[in-house]
Amino acid sequence: MNNRLENIIDLKKYPIQDLNSPIIKEVIKKCKSDLNQFSCSTIPNFILPKSLKIMNAELEKQIHQVYMSKESINPYLNSKDEPSLEKDHPKRIFSRRDNGYLNSDLFEKDSEMKFLYEQELLLKFVSACLEIAPIYRWADPLACHAYNIMRPNGILPWHFDSCEFTLSILIQKPKKGGIFEYCPNIRKPGNENFEEVKKVLNGNRKCVRQLKLEPGDLQIFKGRFTLHRVTKVEGNRSRYLAIPAYVLDPWRVNTPEHSRAIYGKVLPIHHERNIKRSDGLSD
Ligand SMILES: [Fe+2]
Repeated sequence: MNNRLENIIDLKKYPIQDLNSPIIKEVIKKCKSDLNQFSCSTIPNFILPKSLKIMNAELEKQIHQVYMSKESINPYLNSKDEPSLEKDHPKRIFSRRDNGYLNSDLFEKDSEMKFLYEQELLLKFVSACLEIAPIYRWADPLACHAYNIMRPNGILPWHFDSCEFTLSILIQKPKKGGIFEYCPNIRKPGNENFEEVKKVLNGNRKCVRQLKLEPGDLQIFKGRFTLHRVTKVEGNRSRYLAIPAYVLDPWRVNTPEHSRAIYGKVLPIHHERNIKRSDGLSD
């Protein structure tokens, strides 16, 4: 058992090193059920307070390197209009975005978050909760385990993720707002369900759920199939979130356009690996 991991995850409460232990079997059972029903599951107080402080400190130490993106985007994280589509097509609905990332390639070698992301134990646990194997750590060098920053008045509009599965760990909660909202499983491979997506963008709240996330909770989320957003951060405290991600394809990375718009730069790997997605979904 790895000593450092004991100081990050509450392994007494959640002994993920033994997936057959009765405690962890119960946790996995609940996660599976939540994920099937709501495409999202939360495990309370998974990360220890001391480790959250370390994550907070490493982010604040590099806060000047955060790339803030204020480009308006559509739900497919694209900023380019497609005039050939109908005027009210979801791909032509752009919303204000004001939020930033500390890109994964900037993390220091001994970073707490980077260390956690590289743990096979965590990957195996998440895979069991999702009931999907194998899953892989994301090959995208900028996005794989980035910190997300939303400053006061920051907002993240409705969108789908490029990666299939995301973990969210809230590191610092804003005073008000910054609430995660989502529409479970609104699209699936081969079916974009544009009509329903359009309704949500136009303010229909029928399928919208809100998640109460507290610092230290671990959220497991199927972000590629679930339309989601974060409401405006109110008050003077920023919202900090770690978002390590897992994927079904160990080779794929973000598209160059997506990487430029969200992470502020494009690396050769984004051009080299820019081919059409096999699930037929837009991003
Ligand atoms: Fe997202």
